[in-house]
Amino acid sequence: MLNFFRLKKENKAAGEDIHIDLDNIPQHIAIIMDGNGRWAKERMLPRTMGHKAGVEAIRGIVKECSSLGIKYLTLYAFSTENWKRSNEEVSALMNLLVQYLRNEFKELNENNVIINHIGDISKLPQVCQQELKNAYENTKNNTGLTLNLALNYGGRDEILRAVKNIYEDIKDGKIREENIDENTIASHLDTKGMPDPDIIIRPSGEQRLSNFLLWQCAYSEFWYSNIKWPDFKKEHLHKAIYDFQNRDRRFGGVK
Ligand code: FPP
Repeated sequence: MLNFFRLKKENKAAGEDIHIDLDNIPQHIAIIMDGNGRWAKERMLPRTMGHKAGVEAIRGIVKECSSLGIKYLTLYAFSTENWKRSNEEVSALMNLLVQYLRNEFKELNENNVIINHIGDISKLPQVCQQELKNAYENTKNNTGLTLNLALNYGGRDEILRAVKNIYEDIKDGKIREENIDENTIASHLDTKGMPDPDIIIRPSGEQRLSNFLLWQCAYSEFWYSNIKWPDFKKEHLHKAIYDFQNRDRRFGGVK
């Protein structure tokens, strides 16, 4: 009830009266955190400053998702294609990741957050792999929000790895070929055991998936906005949730 009044007041201040149904909060929100570079360019700053500002936005959104009772938040932080960027930018992103994990660990843990990752992290610098593993090991028994950091993540790569693992399981006699179904594939993805995202949010005006959660997005609702990620505030999250709650989801059926 408290949350309801707080949300209503904030959104009224922004000129819009939004009523979020706290009994119908999405279970899983996924975000393509786009627009950091353009945000920095507009301010005549280096691109890396945009990513730094993007980390501030992460802080606010993780906190809000946690307090709204959302179970899973997946953030697209570094794609399998992002290695094409300059060495300087890649290093800056890796450093921001390490700093984020070190600086935020205590508070996230106190807030009952599980710090998880998806993607093939074996290609990340050792220090990143170690921090990610420590963060997960030390928070895996928490029961609140699962924060999935998608790192060296690509939907195609994830499906390819799943296919290879299924093939190994068949060879080892763990799976029989005739028993392979959609659940077999889902349970070999990095998101195994998690619900598919209810909403995929992409700020910055682009309207594409960019290799994000290709299997899992089958029935996700998309939500786009021109706002750039560093400017993305909890009010935008509330609006995305509100719009989601007012969409007609039929999952291929008829009402
Ligand atoms: C896309 O914007 C953003 C990224 C590729 C990186 C996102 C990373 C962070 C917000 C910070 C680091 C992550 C963690 C988990 C601490 P872009 O650079 O493509 O923006 P542009 O399209 O405007 O150039």
